[in-house]
Amino acid sequence: MFNFTKPFYPLLLSAVKNDPETAHRQMLKTLSQLQESRSSAWGNLAIKQLQKSFCLYDSRLKQNLWGLNFSNPVGLAAGFDKDGVAAGIWSSLGFGFAELGAVTFHAQPGNPRPRLFRLPLDRAALNRMGANNLGAAVMADTLKQTWARQPRDIPIGINLCKSKITPLEAAAEDYVNSFQLLKDWADYFVVNISSPNTPGLRSLQGGEQLEPILEALQQANQNTKPLLVKISPDLDWKAIAAIVDLAKTYHLSGIIATNTTTRRDGLKTEILETTGSPIQAEAGGISGAPLRERSTEVIRFIWQQTKGQLPIIGVGGIFTPEDAWTKIAAGASLLQIYTGWIYEGPWIVRNILAGLLEELELNGLSRLSEAVGLEHR
Ligand SMILES: Cc1cc2nc3c(=O)[nH]c(=O)nc-3n(C[C@H](O)[C@H](O)[C@H](O)COP(=O)(O)O)c2cc1C
Repeated sequence: MFNFTKPFYPLLLSAVKNDPETAHRQMLKTLSQLQESRSSAWGNLAIKQLQKSFCLYDSRLKQNLWGLNFSNPVGLAAGFDKDGVAAGIWSSLGFGFAELGAVTFHAQPGNPRPRLFRLPLDRAALNRMGANNLGAAVMADTLKQTWARQPRDIPIGINLCKSKITPLEAAAEDYVNSFQLLKDWADYFVVNISSPNTPGLRSLQGGEQLEPILEALQQANQNTKPLLVKISPDLDWKAIAAIVDLAKTYHLSGIIATNTTTRRDGLKTEILETTGSPIQAEAGGISGAPLRERSTEVIRFIWQQTKGQLPIIGVGGIFTPEDAWTKIAAGASLLQIYTGWIYEGPWIVRNILAGLLEELELNGLSRLSEAVGLEHR
């Protein structure tokens, strides 16, 4: 029988060979078109073939968090589908949930290109995209149309970021404005205060700046949607502990650990090939393998601070089932992947899920939720 995923192989390969942002755009466009063609016989068959290739269902991987059903713990990390153009396709690529965005209230072009680079020596990426997106109103419209064509079959989150033109003092209103436009079109929301590519954004992680944002968002939210905060790996323990306290005070549903790092230590890459400049001199956040250990440390710390009472979404440098298991054992209930998907291809999700099932058996556990925080017991 004809393999319907074959037409996508050149695109996947181009993601490895060409300019990373162009490859990314091409792939998203294809996925978005495929999503829109699902009502046709060809589209329907192609999607079924994707599901056959990339999905793995097993009841041991299921979890219910915040009243939402997660068929597996591996999600798409924020930044991949910034405008939600392929929101309806991620379940067919095996993901148990997907986080769209970052979206800002005002549309913005982001930083000048090139702004996304691969560091193959380090199994990493460097990005300074600068939250390029079409704005919350456009995303709301896109999602409204998508969910009218097909029901949501996995939990969908939206990552909210402050618009660049909005001064830091007016951040709370900016986040709330985006939330109001989007609240009906997703299942959970994330306050992104940790992207290194929006000037001053990370200063919002300080208690004094974060409190009014959380207060205003929860006021607008009225407990209708789970609200999480996404933090930087570059915070010290005291700052993370302060955010954990705020999470309790403002009844947040969880913490996402972590965003990209601005640290450059330990990298094998010395010169960025595209620009010819030393990596130390290039602005942006590093994702992928160099982030793995630090993000796990942050997960472990949050679990200890909360005695496992606050769900954690673990993200940073997941490439293998072992990476995934380590983060779950450290305390993550759910995981997200970005850079690993680029390097390993879409098979990564299924491989990780199969590996997690093996780990459950090896550890004599009957379901994934029993493995969360395992190393602390
Ligand atoms: C190109 C790119 C764009 C990203 N954009 C966002 C974003 O808009 N919002 C956000 O919270 N994180 C963003 N991230 C961070 C990822 O969601 C994730 O936290 C980080 O890359 C670590 O995971 P990884 O090692 O699996 O890539 C971005 C990452 C990359 C590589």
